[in-house]
Amino acid sequence: MNLKKSQLIFTLMLIAFMSCQAQKPKQMNTKNTIEQKIDTLLKQMTVEEKVGQMNQYNGFWDVTGPAPEGGSAEKKYAHLRKGWVGSMLNVRGAKAVRAVQKIAVEETRLGIPLIIGFDVIHGYKTLSPIPLAEAASWDLEAIKKSAQAAAAEASASGINWTFGPMVDISRDARWGRVMEGAGEDPFLGSKIAEVRVKGFQGDDLSAVNTIAACAKHFAGYGFSEAGKEYNTVDIGTSTLHNMVLPPFKAAVDAGVRTLMNSFNEVNGIPATGNAYLQRDILKGLWRFDGFVVSDWASLNEMITWGYTKDKREAAKIAVTAGSDMDMEGYVYIEALAQLVKDGVVSESIVDDAVRRILRVKFELGLFDDPYKYCDETREKETIGNSKNHEAVLDMAKKSIVLLKNDNKLLPLKKEGQKIALIGALAHDKSSPLGSWRIAAEDDTAVSVLEGMQRYKGNTLTYAKGADVTTEKADFVQEVVINTTDKSGFAEALAIAEQSDVVVMVLGEHGFQTGEGRSRTNLLLPGVQQELLEAVYKVNPNIVLVLNNGRPLAINWADEHIPAIVEAWHLGTETGNAVAQILYGDYNPSGKLPMTFPRNVGQVPIYYNYKNTGRPTNKDNNVFWSHYTDVEKTPLYPFGYGLSYTTFEYSNLELNKNSFKIGEDVNVSVTLKNTGDLKGKEVVQLYIRDLFASVTRPVKELKGFELVELKAGETKTIHFILNKENLGFYDNDGTYIVEPGDFKVFIGGSSVTTLEADFSLID
Ligand code: BGC
Repeated sequence: MNLKKSQLIFTLMLIAFMSCQAQKPKQMNTKNTIEQKIDTLLKQMTVEEKVGQMNQYNGFWDVTGPAPEGGSAEKKYAHLRKGWVGSMLNVRGAKAVRAVQKIAVEETRLGIPLIIGFDVIHGYKTLSPIPLAEAASWDLEAIKKSAQAAAAEASASGINWTFGPMVDISRDARWGRVMEGAGEDPFLGSKIAEVRVKGFQGDDLSAVNTIAACAKHFAGYGFSEAGKEYNTVDIGTSTLHNMVLPPFKAAVDAGVRTLMNSFNEVNGIPATGNAYLQRDILKGLWRFDGFVVSDWASLNEMITWGYTKDKREAAKIAVTAGSDMDMEGYVYIEALAQLVKDGVVSESIVDDAVRRILRVKFELGLFDDPYKYCDETREKETIGNSKNHEAVLDMAKKSIVLLKNDNKLLPLKKEGQKIALIGALAHDKSSPLGSWRIAAEDDTAVSVLEGMQRYKGNTLTYAKGADVTTEKADFVQEVVINTTDKSGFAEALAIAEQSDVVVMVLGEHGFQTGEGRSRTNLLLPGVQQELLEAVYKVNPNIVLVLNNGRPLAINWADEHIPAIVEAWHLGTETGNAVAQILYGDYNPSGKLPMTFPRNVGQVPIYYNYKNTGRPTNKDNNVFWSHYTDVEKTPLYPFGYGLSYTTFEYSNLELNKNSFKIGEDVNVSVTLKNTGDLKGKEVVQLYIRDLFASVTRPVKELKGFELVELKAGETKTIHFILNKENLGFYDNDGTYIVEPGDFKVFIGGSSVTTLEADFSLID
């Protein structure tokens, strides 16, 4: 250890000792101590070292975006040694992380540890369902546990920061990244954002099994025009404040330590250079004291957008706008120190960014022990352990949505049946892992075939029927060519014909969704629709198990196929989860977090739309808001999902009908399990503000509860509506609650069964 470093450590110890003496609550004390330590450090840092903290490099493998020019490994190592790198992403494994951390801590002048980021989007090696699927559980406790399991595995592998949760609201199934989020609704999205942040970060960020979370992408990315990836976003202020921002606010309120900005522009200003979003709202109004990382090279992309003319201008604008760290963009590292020296950017702006970054590093405990996440023994014990498998299996079962079950075809009988299993995806051990699974090995999921083989009482025969893609789908490569090969049809038809029940696993390959995978067609890819129709002709007794990362348009299947199970991409335990649902060992309780359209032309389609001036066809003419060639309604609405049992709603009651603003509105409803099995139901409460100074949606989710009832059991469910959920953001972004008339609706989907009225008075 050199002299300077030991002096620094002594100073830090002294400061720590002094602040321990102060008579303050512990938390405050720690906070002050951290701020003092940062002050001390900042005083010792050169401008280059400060800018270095704001510089994040991709590791030397696992690139998740196009590598900008000049990003050689040698250059990165050289910068690392100079203390010009504050963070790395995509370095993983206790050993590999220790190696880069060692350079940062032991070979640089000040020995500031790196923060190591990674896309832990739905698990690390043991994968839970894709986030959209998890959202379909509406089970906040389970989602939190899933994030905890992911944090436990990732942190054991050297990682201390995840680029999740993705909290982008999206209404457009064409956009491939809907699989990463919680769907279309800001209320559900906010609740899920909160528990994901809490799951990753725990109560103590310095604990070895918790990691810093990152709410992304700030903001508006989910509204990419026409669902086309990386496209323009053009939304009004009402949508921005009421739809896009609430989940970010919820993440900030839950204590999220970082945010990532986004590739898109908002009002003509790229999010990375957007001071309104990052300075005024996030760091101003919301008082966020963590840091903002750019998206991959998004500082550079401001040049391509035609917003800044070169890296120097990009650096100036991004730092002033509140982007604290440059992900693999080489913009800050090349231009920012000079801008400070030239007096163009004030050093205090840089200090603020560095303070935020160092703060999170202190909170993680990296200064106390930079190698705390690099314990190879813990890594071996934690990754893939049975506890994590149990957690992801539980989550997978809870994520499945039963879309249709005519004549109680499901659950399947456990004995004496001939079952044909058809579809390439049924025999696939990689696709179920879904997109964003960089650390998981290929072929590590339990396939549906394997899951079903564990039930021995029936005769199970498998045939592929048809592949989904012609080549092996890959995370990075522009694939994915849908196959046209029908040579496997004959075998599939033969086994279908001889079976009592046919289970068909069809849909999208895991890598047909995710970043860079927008589609203009929401049908089953390739020849799968033809396969389905051909099999139907020989045996209509079909259970269709869908694999997909987005709502699909399955009109034909809905009309013809008796049972449809939405099984998304469910992660490592996929086959076991699907088999347990099909055989009734688990009663499905998932509800759709996104509306399913009848055809792609209806997209964007969502439940919380505006009434318009011409919502209905009163006079049997064409002058109303509709299409002439398809029904106005969706195929399956938001919040929809069946169970093997049935539920009945009754007695929607309010404690009174008129309330002063600020008073609690108490709402209750009776739920009865009217079937003969134990089951869970997501009781959903929606409101409608009938007249407002900015028009309001026809329905807005404002409460839900997951209720388990035995067969025949009845329960009264209570909700409270108050100031927090009866208002909205006006066009200046101010939250207001207005007096007026409201409706409240309760039911098992956004197409609710019961409603009541109340009013708010001044
Ligand atoms: C994505 C981010 C991701 C980052 C790092 C980008 O392409 O938009 O969501 O966190 O890459 O992998």
